[in-house]
Amino acid sequence: METRAHQSQMPSERLRLKSSRLLISGQGASELRSCLQALPWNQEGTRLQGARADIRTPAAAASAVAAPTSKSTVDIDWDNIGFGIRDTDYMYVATCQLGTEEWRGSLRPFGNMTMSPSAAVLNYGQGVFEGLKASRTADGRILLFRPEENAARMTYGAGRMSMPAPPKDLFLDAVKQTVLANEAWIPPYGKGSLYIRPLLIGTGAVLGLAPAPEFTFLVFVSPVGSYFKTGQMSPLDLYVEEVFKRASPGGSGGVKTISNYAPVLMTQLNAKKQGFADVIYLDAVENKYVEEVSSCNIFVVKGKTIVTPELKGTILPGITRKSVMELARSKGFDVSEERVSIEDLLAGDEVFCTGTAVVISAVGSVTYQGKKREYHTGQPGPVAQDLYKTLTDLQTGRSPDTLGWTIQLS
Ligand code: COI
Repeated sequence: METRAHQSQMPSERLRLKSSRLLISGQGASELRSCLQALPWNQEGTRLQGARADIRTPAAAASAVAAPTSKSTVDIDWDNIGFGIRDTDYMYVATCQLGTEEWRGSLRPFGNMTMSPSAAVLNYGQGVFEGLKASRTADGRILLFRPEENAARMTYGAGRMSMPAPPKDLFLDAVKQTVLANEAWIPPYGKGSLYIRPLLIGTGAVLGLAPAPEFTFLVFVSPVGSYFKTGQMSPLDLYVEEVFKRASPGGSGGVKTISNYAPVLMTQLNAKKQGFADVIYLDAVENKYVEEVSSCNIFVVKGKTIVTPELKGTILPGITRKSVMELARSKGFDVSEERVSIEDLLAGDEVFCTGTAVVISAVGSVTYQGKKREYHTGQPGPVAQDLYKTLTDLQTGRSPDTLGWTIQLS
């Protein structure tokens, strides 16, 4: 198992990692504690604080789950998974001290974590996250979709948020280990996927505004189905927000930082109260160019042309966005990234959204300045349907992966 590679490094790492402040408690702590007590080097390397296992030596946690075994079954109604968090069996945790670039991590039981109330992520929002999926194929294999793209995007975001990024190999290894350790939670073929959430946060304590002295990289997972409650193929009713902005030039809108998401909740909740599925944001300067939806990118189809807003620092560089552009080009569409005005969007034949969570979701209507523009009433548009099929065929192994976008885990 890949875990053993980490295990072999443990004793030599224990002193170097002594100043880590990540404390883990709650579910799994007593299991971890008894495992740690059994270790021969426990007296020197790991302190146990009351009922709480102190993983000042993150490598120690690897021993706690040296041979993680996924449950054979889990109690889930696979036909009604939805998109929510479920406590799975394992998560991956690594820490790095500021200025060292040295990451040490391991799998450990999924559970709560504690940190200083003064942690940089809690006070100043120093954090970035990723989202990717593992899917089950018809013959039982497990496929990851473009995880290297997520690793690269996290590296970019970490730089923007003044954090050290986990190296690509560590990122990929952590994702693979976490998926395999939670194999029982991967929905059966055709029933959904395992959503993977890599998270990089400043867990060290600060008071003055400064980067954290310590960073934690985590990977946890949850089985998911359709992101929107109305179901994957049900077209979305979207509302165009004209007052509040998601991002501005020079800001961090193009980075997957945690701090981009809470500000859109208010507008999203207001729109939901009025019966809309989500909100389309306009640019902060002219209030007329489409940017993105709260959690996904947007595309407009007109004949054989497909346009999506260009990346200029305010729009998230979605991996599904990038994949869909390539797939659409291969189908003969003229695809371009450019400024897309709200008029262009309203004049399109078809509109759809893309994202890891939303996959490809057709837009049924867009309401702007009190007027509702409907597309393909009640039905997803044909381009969105076709691209959805092509993309999910690749992700679930129904079509051969000639693009090299998937990584097989078993
Ligand atoms: C994703 O699509 O993976 C995201 O990160 C969006 C999130 C708001 C669920």
